[in-house]
Amino acid sequence: MQNLTKSNKMYSKVLEDRPKPYFQDIIKKDHLKPPSVLTEESCQYIGSDDVDRERYFSKEFHNLEIRNIWNKVWQFACREEDIPLSGDYYVYDIVDQSILIVRTDNGDIKAYYNSCLHRGTQLKPSNSCGFSDILKCPFHGWSWSLDGKIKNIPSDWDFPHVKKEEFSLPEVKLDIWGGFVFINLDKNSIPLKDFLSILPEHFKDWDMSKRRKAAHVAKIVPCNWKFAIEAFLEGYHVGETHPQALPYTGDINCQYDYWGLHVSRMMSGLGTPSPSLKDQKISDSDVIESMQDLVSYLDGDVDKKNINKNEKPRDFLSNTMREMLTSATGVNHKDFSTSEIIDAIQYFVFPNFIPWAGYGVPIVYRFRPNGHNPDTSIFEVILLYENDDEKKETSPGIHWLDEGDSWEKAEELGGLGMLFDQDEAAFRSGQLGLKASNKKGSTFSLYQESRIRHFHKTIDKYLSL
Ligand code: FES
Ligand SMILES: [Fe+2]
Repeated sequence: MQNLTKSNKMYSKVLEDRPKPYFQDIIKKDHLKPPSVLTEESCQYIGSDDVDRERYFSKEFHNLEIRNIWNKVWQFACREEDIPLSGDYYVYDIVDQSILIVRTDNGDIKAYYNSCLHRGTQLKPSNSCGFSDILKCPFHGWSWSLDGKIKNIPSDWDFPHVKKEEFSLPEVKLDIWGGFVFINLDKNSIPLKDFLSILPEHFKDWDMSKRRKAAHVAKIVPCNWKFAIEAFLEGYHVGETHPQALPYTGDINCQYDYWGLHVSRMMSGLGTPSPSLKDQKISDSDVIESMQDLVSYLDGDVDKKNINKNEKPRDFLSNTMREMLTSATGVNHKDFSTSEIIDAIQYFVFPNFIPWAGYGVPIVYRFRPNGHNPDTSIFEVILLYENDDEKKETSPGIHWLDEGDSWEKAEELGGLGMLFDQDEAAFRSGQLGLKASNKKGSTFSLYQESRIRHFHKTIDKYLSL
């Protein structure tokens, strides 16, 4: 008890020592006030122990993760708009499981094990998507209708022992939230809405089902899936890894929150300089100009001639971004608050799904192990925009980058590509360095890296079940 009190005192001191302005101070000053969920704070002391480095490299740990995490959790598999029409399909692979997600004739979405009931051949290739009016195995041609009923067995005279009513494709549990199609390999799992805990309530003003995919870029990266995720769970690295962002980014003054086992959040005020630049004179136009490249993914440039010297950077930038978003999407963004338009409001759902809230930075990240190699993983970046009805049925395919490619090769990500190159360089050398370390583990901070602690605590919880 005494130790806990001491730890809590230490943690309270850390909270007091956080640099200002706090995220809450920044949004309080905005003219257009944010929704109440952005004014919530939810964090507490969750430990100070080092996290063992073996969990990033060990095959044994990887096997435990498969058994107790990947076989048990809800996982974001695809977007509804990836399969808009009957017969559209999308294959989601996780380690050595492959799930075939199909839009059926009556418009429902179903998920099947991507495996023929004859001799097991994949019905569709891994990580593929496309259209198919029947699900036909490429080996001997057994076929199924889109609703999973067996349709044809070539030479069926030779299979008198096969009862067709028992040869429907086995289904995988599936549910949908906000246009995101989730699957779960555990038939006895809790419902998706319980797994997502506060997420649907927090996102009620940001209807993700109305958004449409504008870009989807994927790359195999040379580090463990957890190592890659962790680079996106804190803003502490911005100063060293993305120094060009400091004039317009709240970094060491981000807010961190977590709820229950599965959900955490980071909020960074953009259009404000980092507190680490407090001794430098950063003018309002420095803030605005430095942020231009970032917003170029909105398909436009901030017009410097229009910079009104009397307007604060957050007002100027949010007004500009409102106009750009309105013209890019056809949806009127004028009533959305400054914070929802401009800030980095990023949620994490265990184990690998990172949807950003608000409107200006419409990113989703997904991270997966790459097969059975704990030293590599698949990192994906998706951009989702509000969209008008006419554009509903457009969904870009996955743009796979090669190992040596820069993220800037994915022009659809605009100025974000440079940030991902910087992040990748950090987690590349992070993985190599930690492997070569003679120290037993990573020493995370108490506040800024608390979401990483929360992530590992949830992993521990799953591994102990
Ligand atoms: S393995 Fe599929 S038809 Fe033979
Ligand atoms: Fe980063």
